[in-house]
Amino acid sequence: MTDLQTIEEMLEKCLPASDEGYGLLSEAMRYSVLGGGKRLRAIMLIESFRLFSDDRELEKYTAHPFACAIECIHGYSLVHDDLPAMDNDEFRRGALTTHKRYGHAMGILTGDALLNYSMEIVTRAGEELEQNKPDYYMDNMRNFMHAARILFTKAGAFGMIGGQVLDVEGFGDDSRSDREKLEEMCELKTSRLFQAALCCGAVLAGADETAVSLFDDIGRIMGLAFQIRDDILDVTASFAETGKDTGSDAKNNKSTFVSVFGLDRAREYVGELYEELKTMLGKLPGDKSAFETIFDKLFSL
Ligand code: IPE
Ligand code: IPE
Ligand code: MG
Ligand code: MG
Ligand code: MG
Repeated sequence: MTDLQTIEEMLEKCLPASDEGYGLLSEAMRYSVLGGGKRLRAIMLIESFRLFSDDRELEKYTAHPFACAIECIHGYSLVHDDLPAMDNDEFRRGALTTHKRYGHAMGILTGDALLNYSMEIVTRAGEELEQNKPDYYMDNMRNFMHAARILFTKAGAFGMIGGQVLDVEGFGDDSRSDREKLEEMCELKTSRLFQAALCCGAVLAGADETAVSLFDDIGRIMGLAFQIRDDILDVTASFAETGKDTGSDAKNNKSTFVSVFGLDRAREYVGELYEELKTMLGKLPGDKSAFETIFDKLFSL
């Protein structure tokens, strides 16, 4: 499996140096992205690439920058999620949240900068591919553009950001069941980035539409299970385990699977989704052990 060390080095190299640019912005960008994190989205992006291609050169020029970009997007989403106007949290990854460390305005600007930086990484990677590997560029440009669209669309207004809107604003006048509404919110705010990771990796490696669509489904179910597990940990785990403020959802009166259905039902639901994920993995070609390991670690009780 892609090791954490490799991803940390990639991110370290790709982010601006601390003393570059204006004020403390570059330092705050590095603080927000490099300070720990499981790197699940980057790992899954690279592993999904490897399932369909063993071309390490193509991986370096395409999957690696996309993996950095998705960690920047994820990092920005966390910085903004922690802001006083959103979840108002003080700790993340065992350290002060970005706005607590650098001030509220810098929290907003650091998130903005990281989102923009993700686009700089992807577009620069496209140009580097053209300059350094013109033959690869000709063969892979269509996949590259398709992956870029997937990444930015899944992260956008009709994806992750839309989910955050439902999380903070609620559903308004909506007669659907609680479960349907919670599922929609979690699939948007959390699944979309996992779907982006899996689909981008597969598309960059040249996987066919059937495989990409199966990965889209796997990402959807995985994100749902992941958010319910996160909601469970918000109630049951200690700061030492999560590195985040405990009880954040209750403090904010959030509607979660735990607050609506209770801990037992939430745990059961994660178990059901975990079984579903294992069945879905069975339909993919090749060595799926990296995904099996990730899902076992996250979801087996
Ligand atoms: C936290 O994601 C946000 C949620 C979707 C619940 P992660 O738990 O993947 O965060 P890091 O990157 O490991 O800190
Ligand atoms: C966050 O959900 C999902 C995002 C898109 C950032 P949470 O608000 O539950 O994430 P944590 O618990 O703060 O990491
Ligand atoms: Mg939140
Ligand atoms: Mg939060
Ligand atoms: Mg949470």
